[in-house]
Amino acid sequence: MKIATILGTRPEIIKMAPIIDEISKRGIDQIVLHTGQHYDKEMSDNFFRDLEIPTPDYNIQVGSGTHGKQTGLMMKGIEEVLIEEKPDIVLVQGDTNAVLAGALVAGKLHIAVGHVEAGLRSFDMTMPEEINRRVADIVSAMYFIPTEESAINLLAEGFSHENLIITGNTVVDACFRHLEIAKKRGFEEQSLADLDIENMDNILTLTMHRAENVDVRERVTNIIGALKELSDMNIIFPIHPRTKNTLENFGLFDELNDLDHVHIIKPLGYLDFLLLTSKSTLILTDSGGLQEEAITLDVPALTLRYNTERPETVTAGGNILVGSDKDVILENANRILNDKEFADKMKNAPNPYGIGDSAKLTVDAIEDYYERGLLDIRAPEDIMGSFTRKMATIDEDITVAEFEDKNDSLIHMIFDGEKMRFPADDLKLNGMMITYDKRN
Ligand code: UD1
Ligand code: UDP
Repeated sequence: MKIATILGTRPEIIKMAPIIDEISKRGIDQIVLHTGQHYDKEMSDNFFRDLEIPTPDYNIQVGSGTHGKQTGLMMKGIEEVLIEEKPDIVLVQGDTNAVLAGALVAGKLHIAVGHVEAGLRSFDMTMPEEINRRVADIVSAMYFIPTEESAINLLAEGFSHENLIITGNTVVDACFRHLEIAKKRGFEEQSLADLDIENMDNILTLTMHRAENVDVRERVTNIIGALKELSDMNIIFPIHPRTKNTLENFGLFDELNDLDHVHIIKPLGYLDFLLLTSKSTLILTDSGGLQEEAITLDVPALTLRYNTERPETVTAGGNILVGSDKDVILENANRILNDKEFADKMKNAPNPYGIGDSAKLTVDAIEDYYERGLLDIRAPEDIMGSFTRKMATIDEDITVAEFEDKNDSLIHMIFDGEKMRFPADDLKLNGMMITYDKRN
């Protein structure tokens, strides 16, 4: 079996690293293709170093550009490599342009697509990421899904549960493994040493790069307004290149940088960043990955967005959406700083993203699919069977797998009272309402 991984940006490198590592430990043939969407050392090379994975076999160097140009160049480059390498499965992760390009190209070449971190939905179609993740889900053959909530998003869109595999999120694997390494090593980045970060209290780690925030002057101005008033905090801001550019273009960079309590530094490597976040009192961010890491590291997070495709972090109690509203940001930040009970409750929020075995579960499932011939994508040769969708309330002691077997059917949705459930094979159905597809 040969597995190809396509990645292109900082978070994809971080979240695919545990899987790349697991594939290599099992001696499975693999190639890694970098699209070159992120190319600065601080946004790319440093992560291969910190996460101890080999440099990619291919880098098609698409660089920055508009969505159409960037995605088009990626598709051309990815197609050439996949035709040459003929992998059995292509893995894409998350919701960047590499995911869109990789999934479309592989799908049309009849190569199975495995979508890592599938099923997330912000329900905000103005986000490029929402378009990317939805399109990737349409063409995927295997779905590696972080939580039951994300699996239910896919069921609600009509996907069959057969290929939905709940794995947790590989960010937990990366976090647990590398935080230990980071703690042993200590801070390496000079800018953090200069700030004497080891001995600093009241750290607020800030990241923002989301187009809908940093490309909109009014939103950035509101956020900066809140930062100015948080003068009891030491705000550490490893700045994303996109944000540096837009702050400079808006003439706002110096105004922020001149504040004594705000320290703008270049993007950090993974080990330094993990150590910084784990020492923080509060995380203020619009990052997807950081919402997950905050709840994994037991640090309260305020998310500078009006919606999130990670609602589990909010319902678990570790994350609050504050948009870019100055008053809402300040009210919540001050509550976390001054109300210990409130802050402790956020810190103790249960982590919905698993226990750090996500890479193992992902590669287990790929090996199983390969052995059962399910990665072999062929045009159908049997006359299409039809099915009828039915509904039933179950009043017998029966599991999902038993019901499906007995009734030659596939369960689509399960309602446990008002709560939707994922049709896991061993889930007991007594007392639940189901919809199912009866095969004829
Ligand atoms: C991309 C992803 C986003 C992800 C983020 C992770 C898409 C649509 N967006 O957004 O989902 O959350 O990566 O960080 O795929 N730049 C540099 N050096 C670099 C890379 C970028 O200077 O190494 C600058 C360029 O001016 C570029 C801008 O940053 O135009 C934006 O980069 P781009 O890759 O288009 O989007 P991100 O905002 O990084
Ligand atoms: N990160 C990092 N250094 C930094 C800022 C972030 O290593 O200076 C890591 C962070 O730990 C997280 C990931 O980058 O795992 C998040 O990437 P980003 O916010 O760029 O993208 P998103 O997750 O929003 O797609």
